[in-house]
Amino acid sequence: MADEVLLSIPLKGYACYNLLYQEVAEISNLASQMNSVLSQDVLVLLRRVANLVIGDGVPLYLVGGLVRDLLLKVPSRDVDIVVVGDALTLARSLSDDIDGAAKIHRRFGTATVSCKNLSVDMVTARSEVYSRPGALPDIRPGSIDDDLKRRDFAINAMAIRLDYPHYGELIDPYGGRQDLTQRVVRVLHKRSFVDDATRILRALRYEQRLGFHLEWDTEALLRRDVPALSTISGNRICHELEIILREEQPEKVVERMNGLGVWRSIFTPLDAEDDKLSERFERARRVAGGAPSLSMYLSLLVYNLTESDVERFILFFRIQKMVAKVIRDAVRLKSMLGLLDGNVVLPSVIYRALCSYSPTAILAVDVAEGDSLLHRHLNLYLKRLRYVRTLLDGEALLGLGVNTGPLMGKILGELKDARLDGRVTSVQDEVALVKHWL
Ligand code: CTP
Repeated sequence: MADEVLLSIPLKGYACYNLLYQEVAEISNLASQMNSVLSQDVLVLLRRVANLVIGDGVPLYLVGGLVRDLLLKVPSRDVDIVVVGDALTLARSLSDDIDGAAKIHRRFGTATVSCKNLSVDMVTARSEVYSRPGALPDIRPGSIDDDLKRRDFAINAMAIRLDYPHYGELIDPYGGRQDLTQRVVRVLHKRSFVDDATRILRALRYEQRLGFHLEWDTEALLRRDVPALSTISGNRICHELEIILREEQPEKVVERMNGLGVWRSIFTPLDAEDDKLSERFERARRVAGGAPSLSMYLSLLVYNLTESDVERFILFFRIQKMVAKVIRDAVRLKSMLGLLDGNVVLPSVIYRALCSYSPTAILAVDVAEGDSLLHRHLNLYLKRLRYVRTLLDGEALLGLGVNTGPLMGKILGELKDARLDGRVTSVQDEVALVKHWL
């Protein structure tokens, strides 16, 4: 009969989840699932942390993405631990115990312990209060319930207890497990996106990564709160954008952002259907044989923009200098492609047209255009022409009677063209040519 009993889990007046009692009983301890999904080094580490608090009565919890992924049977190495006690002292003890290194961020009450190729983030359980939209929250020590309550989505607001004898117990106050089976992303309360509008981007990222959809009310709240994104600094949005671009198929998130009018509140020039984006992102992955660089993806993202909008993009998102050069170059080069039109273009012409652009930008243009003739020219430059050097250098020219100055620069340039175009192939050829000019 117990199987038939329905448990009603109230969700802060927001929704109500009905779970069969048996389902709850089945999921209440995840120790064996942890053993079968997590890698051995992660398991050993979790047990060592748990051993450190034996007899202290300090509750410890595994939280966040690892719990979500574990329930989805996806192994994760992203270990986040919440301590209902002093996380910093425990982090130091763990670091000593496993011969690792602890990085303590006293101001935030967080610590990262690293050992070999594993790292653990530890934090004291806390409650958060948002004084105004977009502001960083005020933080106070709290219980595990407080800590889960402050989180973004029910699927991310579960915890697994680690201290003995509770090891493996699942804490799921918001029905996160049920959401995983129903494949939905759901916020915990109606002000969630207003409190932290970056959650809008996070919601779309999880939705697309996991093949889920936004729960009905959550989608309505998200649409309502999209304008709140304008309260977030370009820097923070850029951070989220970078994380999105690390997804396996980031174009899905970018397109969803478009469909929901998200770009309008972040950066209006990108609020336009780009029917080539998916194709370009896919091609970039094929060319890179895996994940393309951030600068490649960003160049493709802004490829249709004007040069002045690209400058605004760089400024608003505070794009780092080297990446900025790549995306600026890509969009500039796009408008110079006329120089490379035609079946027969001299290698020296190709070289001169491309030598001031960064190789990644050239590759981005190649990917974006997807044109076979252009590809031949760009590829020739990237694979061969950019490495071509003259055999004679400035010193050799001095020996031939050329004085330093503009003339020497001109001769070196002409020699390079001759070499690129195959008019000279040996030192003797180059010497003869210089003598002829002189
Ligand atoms: N979190 C949150 N709100 C945010 C950022 C993070 O509530 N704006 C919480 C979530 O519980 C999240 C956890 O902090 O699960 C860890 O954050 P993060 O490492 O960004 O996410 P993961 O869930 O680990 O996701 P991913 O798989 O993308 O790393």
